[in-house]
Amino acid sequence: MKRYARIVAVALLVVSGVACAVETGEVRLVPAPVNRLDDESLQRGARNFVNYCLNCHSARYMRYNRLTDLGIDISMIQDNLMFATDKVGNAMTVAMTPIQGKAWFGTPPPDLTVEARVRGRDWIYNYLIGFYRDEKTATGWNNIVFPNVSMPHVLWELSGSNKLVETDFDDHERAEAAAIAVKSLALVEPKPGNKWAVLSVAPDVPGQMTRIQYEAFVADLVNYLDYMAEPARNTRIHVGMFVLLFLGLLFAFAYWTKREYWKDVH
Ligand code: HEC
Repeated sequence: MKRYARIVAVALLVVSGVACAVETGEVRLVPAPVNRLDDESLQRGARNFVNYCLNCHSARYMRYNRLTDLGIDISMIQDNLMFATDKVGNAMTVAMTPIQGKAWFGTPPPDLTVEARVRGRDWIYNYLIGFYRDEKTATGWNNIVFPNVSMPHVLWELSGSNKLVETDFDDHERAEAAAIAVKSLALVEPKPGNKWAVLSVAPDVPGQMTRIQYEAFVADLVNYLDYMAEPARNTRIHVGMFVLLFLGLLFAFAYWTKREYWKDVH
């Protein structure tokens, strides 16, 4: 029995050693330039989300009337943001069923309500700037952050299309240095023969927006997704600031009272 246990232990060690040795690529993400207290950015992000994402992805834990938190009034929501339903108290659902989604795209588009908590806002930001043209895939698009993704680049008319740039290096350090020099999203990937490749995207065909405009558009969208994943956090931040201000004032008064009390003793 003991011998078997030993053999199993050795086998496990070998397997885990091999698993560690298989190196995968490392992505260098650029930080998402977002500010969740900026209501105007969140309003633009909500508009971008309902116009460009809500036809495939749902946000079924978010109700339209919650958008009043962002300073949008009910009639604005009804007239400009509600395409899929007529009741302002309804959740942001879509007509597409998961079965249709699977049939059309191979993978059903996931619900995005808490996506920013799952992936993080930097990941989503880089995902939306990381699409490039790839004739080898079914959609004609591929992504640096999410290789072989089945989502097409739905914002390509705005952003234009990018092409993949690949540079090969003989050692890891040089590849790392080159990835840092890209100063934008880049992926360092191991290649056969102990070589390393740096992958990044470069503009190819221009779109309706300049790169800066597109990045601002995506930043608003990601800001909104981040807000939607945890709407109450904005209230917490505001309450927190008020509490700190209150404690600051209280401290000033307490100190002043203490000085008054001890004035005659010292
Ligand atoms: C034409 C349909 C369609 C539209 C429109 C669309 N997506 Fe997608 N999206 C998909 C599909 C399909 C997937 C699943 C991809 C996969 O797993 O390979 C996906 C995946 C994603 C993911 C990754 C989910 C994960 O964690 O695995 C994110 C983030 C995302 N979409 C964001 C967006 C945003 C933001 C928009 C609006 C700009 C948008 N999508 C518009 C079809 C769409």
